[in-house]
Amino acid sequence: MNVLVVGRGGREHSMVLELAKSEQVKNLYVAPGNGGMKEQATCVAIDEMDTDSLIHFAKEKAIDLTIVGPEAPLNEGIADRFQEANLKVFAPTKKAALLEGSKSFAKAFMKKYDIPTAAYETFNDAEQAKAYIEKQGAPIVIKADGLAAGKGVIVAETKAEALNAVDDMLVSKAFSEAGSTIVVEEFLSGREFSLMAFVHENHVYPMVPARDHKRAFDHDEGPNTGGMGSFAPVPDITEEHIAFSVGNILQKAADGLMAEGCPFTGILYGGLMMTDAGPKVIEFNTRFGDPETQVVLPLLKNDLVQVFLDVLDGKDPELVWEDAACLGVVLASAGYPGPYEKGAAIPSFSVLDDSYVVHAGTKDEGGTLVSDGGRVLLVGAKAATLKEAQEKAYKVIDTAGDNKDYFYRKDIGVNSI
Ligand code: AMP
Ligand code: GLY
Repeated sequence: MNVLVVGRGGREHSMVLELAKSEQVKNLYVAPGNGGMKEQATCVAIDEMDTDSLIHFAKEKAIDLTIVGPEAPLNEGIADRFQEANLKVFAPTKKAALLEGSKSFAKAFMKKYDIPTAAYETFNDAEQAKAYIEKQGAPIVIKADGLAAGKGVIVAETKAEALNAVDDMLVSKAFSEAGSTIVVEEFLSGREFSLMAFVHENHVYPMVPARDHKRAFDHDEGPNTGGMGSFAPVPDITEEHIAFSVGNILQKAADGLMAEGCPFTGILYGGLMMTDAGPKVIEFNTRFGDPETQVVLPLLKNDLVQVFLDVLDGKDPELVWEDAACLGVVLASAGYPGPYEKGAAIPSFSVLDDSYVVHAGTKDEGGTLVSDGGRVLLVGAKAATLKEAQEKAYKVIDTAGDNKDYFYRKDIGVNSI
C-alpha cells in the first residue's frame, strides 16, 4: 500500500513510526513532515492546508490511505474533498470536525445528547457575558468558540480575570473571528485524562487512557503549552471510569453525530475531567492528541494500518494493548511558549532498550538537523511500570547533558505514580 500522513508534528512522527513497521506499507509519505521522519518516510513539501496539491499528489502516487493529523485542515474540510475525489481518508468531515472546531456547537451537542460536561452559556455580547459572570462568580472558564491553537481558554481564578478575558475576546478581538462568540462555563475540579478512540459511524474502539502536562514548568506552573509530556495508561483512572466514559461520552457522541446526519470517522478524543460526580467532558478533539499519541501508540501491538482499514470497512479491528506503561518528556526551545530561537543543534541521546525519540519541530538543513519549533523532541520510554518508564525516559535525557537551548519538565508523571 501507499500511505500518506498529513502533518508535521510529534503526533505525526509517532504515527509514521508505527505505520513504517507495517509489512503492508510499500511507500510511506508525509506532507510536509519534519526533519526527523526521513528514516521512515518520504517527506513531501506540501503544506497541510494545501488541499488541492495534497489531492493531486495522492492521485499521482496512487495513495491507498491518507491519515490527517492536525485539526486545521479537518476544519477546512480536507476529508470531504478527499472523499469527493474518491480517495480513502481516515478523518472526519468538516461538519463532524465541528465537535472540536466550535465550542458552542460542542456544548449544545453535549446538552442535546445528555453527555456529561460543565454547565455553560454562550455569548456574543460582552455586557451579557459579564452579567452572567457577576452572577456565577469565580473560578470560571472563558473559551473562544473557534480554533485558537490551544490558547483560547482562560481558566479565571477571579471575577476580574474573567471580565478581562471577556473584553480581550469580545471587545479587543484577541482571537479575531475564533473569539467573536464565547462560551462561559463552570469550573470543574478533579484530575484530567485523555481518552481517544478509533471511530466509524456508531462503532467506537477505545485506546488506553493518557494524561498530558499542559503547563510549561514543574509543579504545573507557568503558561499553558501544547503539552510538555504525557504518559499512558493512567493509574488513577479505573476500568469503571473508562467504561463509563466510553459508554456515556464517546459512544453517545458517535451516536449523536449519526443522528445529526454527520457520522464521524476518525479519532475522537475526549479531554475529560474525573470529577466527584464522575468523568465530564472538558473538550472534544476530532484527531489524535499531541503528545498523548506519542505514548499511546507504542503500546498498541497490532498493525496500525490494518486497524485504520478495518475501522473504515466497518469491521471490528483487533486492538491488543501491551501490559506496560509509556512516558514521554518534551524537550522545548528555551523561551517556549513565548518567543524562542530556531536553528539550534539537536541534542543526541543514547537510546536504551524500549526508549525512543519523536521529532516534533526539527528540520534538515543541508544534512544537519536543527530545531524548528517550540516543542522540538519527545523522549519516550516503555517499561513494565510507569515508574520504570519515567526513570528510563529521564535517564535517556540525561545522556545528552546540559543544553541551554532547551528546557524540559522534570516532573512528568510525578503526581500520578
Ligand atoms: P482546552 O484548550 O479546551 O484543552 O483547555 C485547556 C485547559 O484548560 C484544559 O486542559 C483544562 O486544564 C482547563 N479547562 C478547560 N475547561 C475547564 C473547566 N471547565 N474547568 C476546569 N478547567 C478547565
Ligand atoms: N494534548 C491535547 C491536544 O492534543 O489537544
